[in-house]
Amino acid sequence: MKLAPALTGMRTYPFVRLDEAKRKLQAAGVDFVDFGVGEPREETPAFIREALVAALEPLSTYPQAVGLPELRAAIADWTGRRFGAALDPDTQVLPTLGSKEAIFHMAQVLGGDLVAVPAPAYPVYERGAVFAGKRVLELPLREDGGFLPDLDAVDPRTWRDVALLWLNYPNNPTAATAPLALYERAAELGREHGFVVASDEAYSEIYFGEPPVSALQLADLTGVAVLNTLSKRSSMPGYRSGFVAGDPELIALLKRYRPNVGVAPQAFVQRAAAAAWRDEGHVEAVRAGYRAKRDILLPVLEARGLRSAGGDATFFLWLDAGPQADMIAERLLEGGIVVAPGSFFGPAGSGYLRFALVPTLAGCERAAERLDHLLR
Ligand SMILES: Cc1ncc(COP(=O)(O)O)c(C=O)c1O
Repeated sequence: MKLAPALTGMRTYPFVRLDEAKRKLQAAGVDFVDFGVGEPREETPAFIREALVAALEPLSTYPQAVGLPELRAAIADWTGRRFGAALDPDTQVLPTLGSKEAIFHMAQVLGGDLVAVPAPAYPVYERGAVFAGKRVLELPLREDGGFLPDLDAVDPRTWRDVALLWLNYPNNPTAATAPLALYERAAELGREHGFVVASDEAYSEIYFGEPPVSALQLADLTGVAVLNTLSKRSSMPGYRSGFVAGDPELIALLKRYRPNVGVAPQAFVQRAAAAAWRDEGHVEAVRAGYRAKRDILLPVLEARGLRSAGGDATFFLWLDAGPQADMIAERLLEGGIVVAPGSFFGPAGSGYLRFALVPTLAGCERAAERLDHLLR
């Protein structure tokens, strides 16, 4: 068998190590609380589940890659209400199977040699680039820079080779948010040097302060794509439903490419997704749920010397744990508290710990008591 070098050269997903550790805890009968992987574990609201069931039809036909007009309209309406964007649902909105596959495929439709990705970051920006045969340019996110990339520190000659620049705010793992000025500068550089700016806004609806801004608020969306998802906003990670929106030229490219891959979303999922985008009440409840968990854990962690270094959005806590971060993560693991060491997100994440606020409220309460002892 001849193996794909992109696959054989790839590091194991670090979270696989956490899975092994969790299996050991389970085998040893340890009752653990899992703040490791950022997968929502709240129930999907009943009205969304009901919309899916109501959409099931006796005849199952192949879905179209362009998505249902009903869903595209619901997404365009939502981006209008939330960000004041005026998107044409036919030419500027494309439903996706969650955002992960869309992130992965983005680099496939573009020429150029380099993909610029933040570090630390969600790993799929890099992996999509590597499978598309492109090199990766890492843009460090530092605490003293508000975990924003310094776009003007990149040599213009380097920008010329860039196909795609990834931005992700609210940010995983640092929980930081971005000002509109970052998107403005990125889009300006993109137009100057001929690269696409892709803004992954998977956590735009999980916030505890001011609602985060979107790249969709830019006056000119030329060369700009925004990706969002219902996984976090509506607790629907298993449904696999998201969208790409923005520059019609880019959307047209994706429409040409995607039928080849077989990533057309199922019609019944799309109808449930349309119902989810049309409703805001459940999103307020989702936010309130994460806020309650944050309010239980953060005071205990800060009192025990783990400072919240990131922002006040996403369901992650990004805590400054100093040079001992990996050891602290290990100690917590032995005590039945699973967290992700920042080093899982590459060297730029060293010195931090990431808590995903996904266990139940009761789990968070139990964990807070335990943390109070373990971190003494
Ligand atoms: C930053 C970021 N983007 C995208 C995703 C993918 O979400 P989904 O594919 O469920 O839409 C995740 C999931 O954890 C994420 O953390």
